[in-house]
Amino acid sequence: MSRGPLPLPLRPPHAWGPSLSAAGSSPRHSAARSAALSVVLATVLVALAAVGPAPALAQIPSKFENLKVLPKDIARDSLAAVMRGFAFGLGVRCQFCHAGEEGQPFSEWKFQSDEKATKRKARFMLQMVNYLNEERLPGLMAAADAPREDPPVRITCRTCHHGVPVPRSLDELLALTAHDAGTDSAVAEYGHLRERYYGDGAYDFGEGTLIALARRLLADHDAPGAVRFLELNLESFPESVSTYFALAKVQEARGDTARAITALEKAAALHPEPGLAEAIEREAQKLKGSGG
Ligand code: HEC
Ligand code: HEC
Repeated sequence: MSRGPLPLPLRPPHAWGPSLSAAGSSPRHSAARSAALSVVLATVLVALAAVGPAPALAQIPSKFENLKVLPKDIARDSLAAVMRGFAFGLGVRCQFCHAGEEGQPFSEWKFQSDEKATKRKARFMLQMVNYLNEERLPGLMAAADAPREDPPVRITCRTCHHGVPVPRSLDELLALTAHDAGTDSAVAEYGHLRERYYGDGAYDFGEGTLIALARRLLADHDAPGAVRFLELNLESFPESVSTYFALAKVQEARGDTARAITALEKAAALHPEPGLAEAIEREAQKLKGSGG
């Protein structure tokens, strides 16, 4: 189980508590590291308190009326940490789940109310995450007859949500929009999401995403949409051989052999490996022969 002769300091097995774990922290084995981590965390929290909307968490009640999953006697600081974990995990603010308004003092919020569906869903999610961490994953070692990661990886809200409320992949999200509202809407949505989320890990804006989207659109009989997104991908990744390959495939599927060949030739020109260039050339010849 353990990684070797590291002098591990003893720590209580659930030092941070099963429910707190849902907020996204996992204990480390090294005392030095964890001390360093606390300093970093404290610094970050202070920094956040300084620049953030200063939500006077001191104003939240210290006795809670409607906890069904978290311990009823949980300390206020711990509850606040769990709630910040939720907000961070989903990239939202308190009012996403709670009845209250930005700017209104927390003392006037109805935190105990379950009126928002998002809160009720979050409670279910918390139970699910606790179940996975506390009951399901501990069985991994026995079931697989192999040790777990050390320290074990804990699931948090962010593991799935990556800072967005609905954890869909970007290609799936855009395919749904394209299907329901058309290519223009999907292209516009891509632009907005890129502006809002680029670089923070919520969505994958890498080379492969729009190619995966094109594949989905082609399967949905939307070859023009697929072409549009592949061309958009080339704006960000002008040297993407895989995009030209995908473009060739889509053009071939819609019967435009000339454009398919052009795309293959672009791919060949970009790729320095001679073997590949020849394979592409052969493919182009085949297309020429069949398409005319
Ligand atoms: C993603 C949804 C979500 C977000 C965001 C969220 N909460 Fe909560 N909150 C919950 C859930 C779910 C519970 C109830 C947990 C339970 O039943 O054990 C809760 C409970 C509480 C309670 C206890 C209420 C009571 O009396 O029972 C307080 C106080 C609270 N949250 C404050 C906050 C604050 C402050 C924020 C913003 C920093 C916040 N929450 C953000 C979902 C959320
Ligand atoms: C194993 C992956 C996973 C984890 C971990 C997870 N969620 Fe979710 N969550 C989902 C999925 C999937 C959905 C969408 C469910 C559906 O199909 O409606 C979702 C939906 C939600 C929603 C509804 C969002 C909306 O806009 O309707 C909330 C709120 C939520 N999760 C809160 C949480 C919180 C809080 C945590 C951490 C305690 C968490 N989730 C952990 C997978 C996860």
